[in-house]
Amino acid sequence: MGAKLLCFCLASALVAYYIYTPIPENIEEGWKVMLVTTMFRTVGHVAEVADRLGLMHYMEVLSLITVAEYVAPTSDENVTVTDTEFSNVPVRLYLPRKPAGGLRRAVIYFHGGGWCVGQAGMKSYDLLSRWTSNQLDAVVVSVDYRLAPKYHFPVQFEDVYSVTKFFLQSSVLSQYGVDPNRVCVAGDSAGGNLAAAVAQKLLEDSEVTTRLRAQVLLYPALQTLDLNLPSYQENENGLILPKSLMVRFWSEYFTSDSSLREAMASNRHVPAESGHLFQFVNWSNLLPEEMKKDYVYTSPVFGSSKIAKKYPGFLDPRAAPLLAEDTRLHGLPPTYVLTCEYDVLRDDGVMYVSRLRAAGVRVTHDHAKDAFHGALMFVSSPASLPVGNRLRNRYIEWLNENL
Ligand SMILES: *[C@@H]1O[C@H](CO)[C@@H](O)[C@H](O)[C@H]1NC(C)=O
Ligand SMILES: *[C@@H]1O[C@H](CO)[C@@H](O)[C@H](O)[C@H]1NC(C)=O
Repeated sequence: MGAKLLCFCLASALVAYYIYTPIPENIEEGWKVMLVTTMFRTVGHVAEVADRLGLMHYMEVLSLITVAEYVAPTSDENVTVTDTEFSNVPVRLYLPRKPAGGLRRAVIYFHGGGWCVGQAGMKSYDLLSRWTSNQLDAVVVSVDYRLAPKYHFPVQFEDVYSVTKFFLQSSVLSQYGVDPNRVCVAGDSAGGNLAAAVAQKLLEDSEVTTRLRAQVLLYPALQTLDLNLPSYQENENGLILPKSLMVRFWSEYFTSDSSLREAMASNRHVPAESGHLFQFVNWSNLLPEEMKKDYVYTSPVFGSSKIAKKYPGFLDPRAAPLLAEDTRLHGLPPTYVLTCEYDVLRDDGVMYVSRLRAAGVRVTHDHAKDAFHGALMFVSSPASLPVGNRLRNRYIEWLNENL
């Protein structure tokens, strides 16, 4: 009896220890965030075991979350929703139902998920696109670009780029009743990365005459060089997206070869001959004082040039938009950047804001002190959070004024 009770107490303590994640006090309904963090962590552990046993690739296990969240394209009283293809890439299209008063606005949206998981048809993304379409009376194109580990960089980028280019043709815009002067790209996390890369690339593409009206970058990933920024250090074991998972997403974008992941995990993946690129991600210059907290800047430690020769993608601005030269940032459209306090990617977004402003781009930067990476996904029951709804409404409000 005594032994059983002891076992029970020990087991309960272990479960409690496993579930417990310290949640910052200013996060509302923190217990929900704790449960979701625990769920993700558990899926991560299962994925790790399955991967080591050779049963399934780590990312294939993670993508089961996507499958569980899938909803079929379903029209409602306000929006007609269909799955189709643009330029051979699957997209989910949201068209407002009410008669158009004139030409409409359009949002080309790229979902998040570390270039490995996620889908336009996930319930949370479907709701976000539906909401965007309805609130802005806009056409929304949500792109299902191909994912790692099956496809690596630059496939993800090329898919979203070819959809954007296809949609920006005047014949296509007029087919959907879209005003060529009111189209933007938007995305969250890895999707924010793709949106930033697409906006940069369009500037130098002489085949595209339509210019973007805006870009929206929601807690975007923007650089591969320094994976030890203050925000990475501070949120190493943080909510939803710990550093180890972000490193995995980054490395998997380029290759499934674990040598890149190991080099990135120790922040020794950039060779000395690419050292000049560190000026573009130098947080000592690019973060405002209050964002540096008490961290001390140290010079980069270089890695072997073998890895960079094998996987040059991680030094490519199409993968890491922060690596673009100032002259390439100059012509970018008005930009909305959302960063969250509890996020390894916080400093990526803040540094891009500094660089864009220095290049003369008009930027609206919202920094949510009470939010964490992925907060915008928390807009539907059972995991609806006040902060998710607030951030979503704010982003729609910005688009309403600027698109
Ligand atoms: C349709 O739009 C109205 C007005 O914005 C809104 O109140 C209603 O909830 C929307 N319906 C759906 C299914 O989203
Ligand atoms: C980063 O900026 C600091 C402060 O301006 C400077 O001392 C340091 O040399 C810079 N490092 C790199 C790699 O550019």
